[in-house]
Amino acid sequence: MSSEASTRAADTRAEARALSAAATTAGYAPSIHNTQPWRWSVSGDELDLYLDHSRALDVTDPDSRLAIVSCGAALNHALVSLTADGWDAVIARMPNPDHPDHLARLRVDRRIPVSLEARRRRQTVELRHTDRRPIVGTPIDADKLDAIVAAVESAGAGLHLLHPDQVYDLASAADQAQRAEAEDLAWQKEVTYWTGGTRPLSSGIPDAAIPDEVTRTTVPGRDFGYLGQLPVSGEHEDAAAFAILYGPEDGEADWLRAGEALSAAWLTAIELGLSVLPLSATIEVAVTRERMRGLLSGLGRPHLVLRFTTGDPASTAAPHTPRLPEAQVIERF
Ligand SMILES: Cc1cc2nc3c(=O)[nH]c(=O)nc-3n(C[C@H](O)[C@H](O)[C@H](O)COP(=O)(O)O)c2cc1C
Repeated sequence: MSSEASTRAADTRAEARALSAAATTAGYAPSIHNTQPWRWSVSGDELDLYLDHSRALDVTDPDSRLAIVSCGAALNHALVSLTADGWDAVIARMPNPDHPDHLARLRVDRRIPVSLEARRRRQTVELRHTDRRPIVGTPIDADKLDAIVAAVESAGAGLHLLHPDQVYDLASAADQAQRAEAEDLAWQKEVTYWTGGTRPLSSGIPDAAIPDEVTRTTVPGRDFGYLGQLPVSGEHEDAAAFAILYGPEDGEADWLRAGEALSAAWLTAIELGLSVLPLSATIEVAVTRERMRGLLSGLGRPHLVLRFTTGDPASTAAPHTPRLPEAQVIERF
């Protein structure tokens, strides 16, 4: 074999390894109720992402909007991994109009220098987790929020930071959404299926990640219908910032982009010492989704509400949720 051919063969092997590692990294992504509604296929120099309907939430998320947002977060995690391995990638989003569940195809394009920031970001992926505790901290510096807005914009979406009076509108809409959901027996059954001791193996939300008492927050957190085992302080959270993640339209491609931006925002926030809680109840219920649209005043269509708080260095980290074995979510050819 000529030296040129052997370099090419080595490059091909390195590309395949990087794509495989990207699919592994993507498994750390956040997802609605930790459903992990994605399936990856690694083959040659391509990595394909599919929506797995068998893990979508038929009652809470009938259009799969939040499942696709979750897949978008996984896609951004995959990209973080490739960048940390020194590869630039080309992404085709919704590459097959006849198969809307085929959400993206990634191909490695060329070698790029590896920066310390890129390596750090891949480590941040493993640190990230959802923290449902009300954190009593100092207000968040404006420059940190600006950095998060910039991260969202560079991922192709927008982030509208709510003014204090809009936070009361959000709180009232979140309350309305949670009441509507709690009255629906099918919704209760679904949330019970995905939480606590009844959840499927290696997915769902364990009791250890659900507050052990009703949290004192202006905007109510997700009502799981019961109390878990996550110790929370009884103090009122007063220094959180709330924002609406939005995009120009309200279709699958926009939800995917919103998920990519969610990941970019969340990883940036962690690196700035902040913690993040997605709040999706107002997006799940059509009437409150319209109220969120109203808060955007024509900027775009709402895809998710986010709460940012200053991380509390004195408190221990909330536990990580489990993940499905790779064999269940990654096909390697
Ligand atoms: C699209 C989306 C919506 C979510 N909505 C909520 C929510 O309304 N309330 C909540 O407590 N957590 C919410 N989460 C957080 C998930 O429950 C969490 O990501 C999942 O349980 C995995 O845990 P981890 O983030 O700690 O890895 C949401 C996550 C995503 C990606």
